[in-house]
Amino acid sequence: MKPAVMMKWMILRANLVIILIVLLAGVFLWVALSSKKKSDYTPIVKKWYKARSIYAVLLVVLMLVVSIYTLRELPFNKPSYVLGDEVIPVQVEAYQFGFDIDQTEFSVGDTVEFNVTTRDVTHGFGVYDPDMNLVGQTQAMPEYTNTFYLTFDKPGTYQVLCLEYCGLAHHLMMAEIVVK
Ligand code: CUA
Repeated sequence: MKPAVMMKWMILRANLVIILIVLLAGVFLWVALSSKKKSDYTPIVKKWYKARSIYAVLLVVLMLVVSIYTLRELPFNKPSYVLGDEVIPVQVEAYQFGFDIDQTEFSVGDTVEFNVTTRDVTHGFGVYDPDMNLVGQTQAMPEYTNTFYLTFDKPGTYQVLCLEYCGLAHHLMMAEIVVK
């Protein structure tokens, strides 16, 4: 390209940029000015803003009532034994892929305090009754002990299963608790 042609081309480009900037500024100005104009819909819009406010207040009141009603039993992990009852403390350590439980035989009516932690990654500690209903569970967390209470009211073999995907053999993480 000859220097003269290049110069013309550059000037043309600069002009184009200026024209675009002016156009864009025009659009902004138009939007800014027209936003102040009152349209025919103003009364309707105002009416619905009011309706929306009432709806919001009703919703907040409703959610508060529902929250208070459903959460009044917190904490859900309240010990289910009567104060003064004997509680058997049991240490549980989960690992890839099993559970170390320092006592696995109990009598019907025993209340057990499970103190659950893990040696490696996060696991779940779920206790299933002989009918395979989940009767208690907590998370096994590294460097932390979660405690939950369980009263064994049915005799039989209870299953302990991991409830947190923790690796290839997660599904093999099982233990048994026998209640006589
Ligand atoms: Cu441990 Cu899944």
